[in-house]
Amino acid sequence: MMHAFERFGLLINDRVVRTPVGIASMSGIVDAEYALRRAGHIGFVFIGGYSIDTATMAAARSMAESGRKEFVFANPVEELTSQVAKFEKSDVIPGINLRGSSPASFRAIARAIGDSVVYEIDAHCRQPAMIEAGSGEYFLRHPDELVLAVRALKEEGVTVSVKIRAGVADDDRKIAEALWKAGADILHIDLMDFGSAKLRQIRNSCPLMLIANNSINTFDRMREMLSHGADLVSLARQSDEQTLAGLDASIARYADEEGWYNSPKQLCRGGDIRSLTFCCMPVKECPLIPTLNRIGMPKDAYIRMKMDSVRGTPLEEGKQTCFGSLCWCCKTSSPCMFRDMTLKQAGISKKEYMRLKRELSDTIMGRVFHDVSSDESG
Ligand SMILES: Cc1cc2nc3c(=O)[nH]c(=O)nc-3n(C[C@H](O)[C@H](O)[C@H](O)COP(=O)(O)O)c2cc1C
Ligand code: SF4
Ligand code: SF4
Repeated sequence: MMHAFERFGLLINDRVVRTPVGIASMSGIVDAEYALRRAGHIGFVFIGGYSIDTATMAAARSMAESGRKEFVFANPVEELTSQVAKFEKSDVIPGINLRGSSPASFRAIARAIGDSVVYEIDAHCRQPAMIEAGSGEYFLRHPDELVLAVRALKEEGVTVSVKIRAGVADDDRKIAEALWKAGADILHIDLMDFGSAKLRQIRNSCPLMLIANNSINTFDRMREMLSHGADLVSLARQSDEQTLAGLDASIARYADEEGWYNSPKQLCRGGDIRSLTFCCMPVKECPLIPTLNRIGMPKDAYIRMKMDSVRGTPLEEGKQTCFGSLCWCCKTSSPCMFRDMTLKQAGISKKEYMRLKRELSDTIMGRVFHDVSSDESG
């Protein structure tokens, strides 16, 4: 597992994630058995959704009666306990997708099941019965109640994911920021037809771990999501072994060759906030300037932040480069003999350079979201 951490640098629930490919819940279908049959190709799963209180259990029953596949259990705690136990010997990180209608319902489940799983609030289900019960999409129209549910779970000391459908809330950026501030750990986003521009907006609004979802069935689509801010991707309808195995193998190969499996595009090519790691000094009119304005960071603070962050590291080198340090240098996909010469002289491979740029990007994210008030919207 150490190799997986070096490769992807991902931890969920204090455990190393083997691969950034996982399975999203499908009620009545995705349970522990379904996930464990695909265990060799996934890093995580959200089983369920499970209805956990009187109102949502009644909704699930009526949905099942009208022909939908549903998990309907008279005693959800008993069922969830037995499901979670099945993951004991597996390195797949389990999450449970839950439909509840009050903070107390989520809290009660966390108390009963404990902290070995990730708790995912289903703010995604659009079935009218579930919305009427005060769950699923209801939460996206009542974000204050969603925030209370997140807080209730966090008070129990568990890891929290929120599953949303993009384009339902009044403003996805605001809800992402509110969930981050409420203490959520993961935002799992069904992007519907919105694509990577929506993902970038959310990435630029919060530092949460992001899982991109919806029709991510090819490596190109996966990289598209990873290069616009996703940390992981999930599949539901096409979570067959062949598709999962293909994505798992391709992203492992890409990470081993390139050094940064979810590197962003350059900012001027549509990259997200992490792209500041590849940006030059602010010396011309280019997308860097409006980005700094939006995050409320003066130019001199940006210069200081980057230079301070690389002091004493190999990225401090680079006298022959445009701005005197590799901290201002571009992605390896942009050809440059000055950067490459510097790397060669310093004995740094391109893969190591990208790994160092990732570390710089993590520092930048920390500074942007913890030191500067965040109302980015780009
Ligand atoms: C049959 C079915 C059941 C689903 N049940 C749930 C659910 O219980 N909770 C949830 O958050 N999402 C549920 N989803 C949504 C999926 O997790 C996923 O967001 C959606 O299918 C888009 O991803 P995909 O293109 O990989 O299938 C369900 C989807 C399907 C097709
Ligand atoms: S600073 Fe350089 S890399 Fe960044 S947006 Fe401007 S031109 Fe592009
Ligand atoms: S030296 Fe090359 S890589 Fe570095 S900033 Fe200049 S053009 Fe970009």
